Amino acid sequence: MAKPRMSSIDGKLAQEFAVPAHVEEIKEKMAAFAGHHAAAGRRVVLITSGGTKVPLESRTVRFLDNFSSGRRGASSAEYFMDSGYAVIFLHRHRSLYPYTRMFSNINMLDALKFSGGASSNSGEVVVNQQVLPDIARALRRYQEVKEGKLLLPIEFSTLSEYLHLLKAAAQALSAIGSKAMFYLAAAVSDFYIPASEMPEHKIQSSNGPLQLSMNMVPKILSPLVKDWAPRAFVISFKLETDPTILLDKARRALDAYRHQAVVANVLDSRRGYVVVVTPETQAELIISDEDVKNDVEIEERIVSNLTSAHNKFITQQGG
Ligand code: PMT
Repeated sequence: MAKPRMSSIDGKLAQEFAVPAHVEEIKEKMAAFAGHHAAAGRRVVLITSGGTKVPLESRTVRFLDNFSSGRRGASSAEYFMDSGYAVIFLHRHRSLYPYTRMFSNINMLDALKFSGGASSNSGEVVVNQQVLPDIARALRRYQEVKEGKLLLPIEFSTLSEYLHLLKAAAQALSAIGSKAMFYLAAAVSDFYIPASEMPEHKIQSSNGPLQLSMNMVPKILSPLVKDWAPRAFVISFKLETDPTILLDKARRALDAYRHQAVVANVLDSRRGYVVVVTPETQAELIISDEDVKNDVEIEERIVSNLTSAHNKFITQQGG
């Protein structure tokens, strides 16, 4: 088998970002998962989800983080599995997770009750379906997914873990070529402090105000598309707070990285409006008030748009 090409980012990753424990083991697990599902005729999507944490000290007390809840990634994972995909879910530790995401704001103890009433001594506990009205549907689907081994969850917390695990995933999925999709919904830090410049111990406030100088994180999309998984169908996301620059930035990303699509969204409207931009097309996806009443989520539309595009891509690539 041809050896994957080395990029200049490979060297930087190795030198400046600590390699997480067990990365080779996790890579083998991902490769086995992808191989198994591709042999069964399934496509495999790698979803990244949640924000990355950037430490300020090597014995970390403080870190920089961002707003991402992981909702986009977790709900998209469900719709991909409903569409017949197997999912590698590379997500931030404790961010939203497929199927449990609907219940993340509920106090577990409010959702349970004694079967014989509050004064009963039976000790048998049952679910209070008034607090968790959709629990049976979610549990059923969760168990089907588990039985079919359709979901492989992998966790990261820090930026370094994210970068190394994404590289490992890309290399693991390269064997299934165009049947692999990358859906890069995680909110990845653009800035970091290299290990060589990071103080070991807690930064002391007695030293006065803190001035930070941070390096640019290498754009990982570039080696992913060019070197690590060159035959895969790759979707990046573009988040802005200023809607007037969004589409231009999305197009510039497509020009720079030469991947297949960008899902463009604005922070405040991201649950109700996105634009899927490809080199030839631009599709606005909108959730109306009526959709909200019917519990339609925008991720269902994003996934439907992208699975169709992936179909075409596979056909063009010759299967
Ligand atoms: O999690 P939620 O609360 O549901 O929110 C979802 C979301 C808003 C986080 C999601 O829809 C989204 O937009 N994710 C991407 C946010 C982001 O990081 O955008 P960006 O413009 O900074 O990066 C653009 C792309 O470059 C991303 O796909 C990222 O994977 C990629 N990137 C970023 C940094 C880096 N060093 N290398 C990269 O390749």
